[in-house]
Amino acid sequence: MRRLQRLRLAFLLNSFLLPTFAAPLVFADPPPPAAAPVPDAVRGKSVFLTNCMTCHGAKGDGKGPAAAALDPKPANFTDPAVQARVSDKEMDTAIRKGGAAVGKSAAMPAWGGTLKENDIRSVQLFIRSLAK
Ligand code: HEC
Repeated sequence: MRRLQRLRLAFLLNSFLLPTFAAPLVFADPPPPAAAPVPDAVRGKSVFLTNCMTCHGAKGDGKGPAAAALDPKPANFTDPAVQARVSDKEMDTAIRKGGAAVGKSAAMPAWGGTLKENDIRSVQLFIRSLAK
């Protein structure tokens, strides 16, 4: 009698309980890939201070230490009028492909090959935050 009960229990385990409750653990879908990082102005500021400050100035006013040697000078991003005349598209292209790609100074380097996507979008958010 006890043997029969044990057999029944084993049968129940193998045929029902294990497949039902263990299978989802074994065959569960792989976890979704980590969400793409969200661009933000704080990150953009550090990107700017690392890569852009020498020409554009720590405040983005166009008065970086290297600006004296540049002609034309980098624009003053703290001026709302400058912000208004540079569209998002133009800013994006200038940063990715360099000044020459938007008909500006070729002294403005192309960053598309150096900076990560999230850094490019973050630095734009930072620049836009300068004249607000
Ligand atoms: C070697 C100096 C230099 C560095 C470094 C530099 N820039 Fe520039 N940038 C310039 C110059 C010069 C211009 C063009 C000014 C002009 O022709 O009116 C310019 C233009 C731009 C423009 C277009 C603005 C406009 O007036 O249409 C953007 C946006 C810009 N830079 C962003 C950046 C960002 C972001 C970085 C860093 C990732 C950076 N720059 C690094 C020199 C530099």
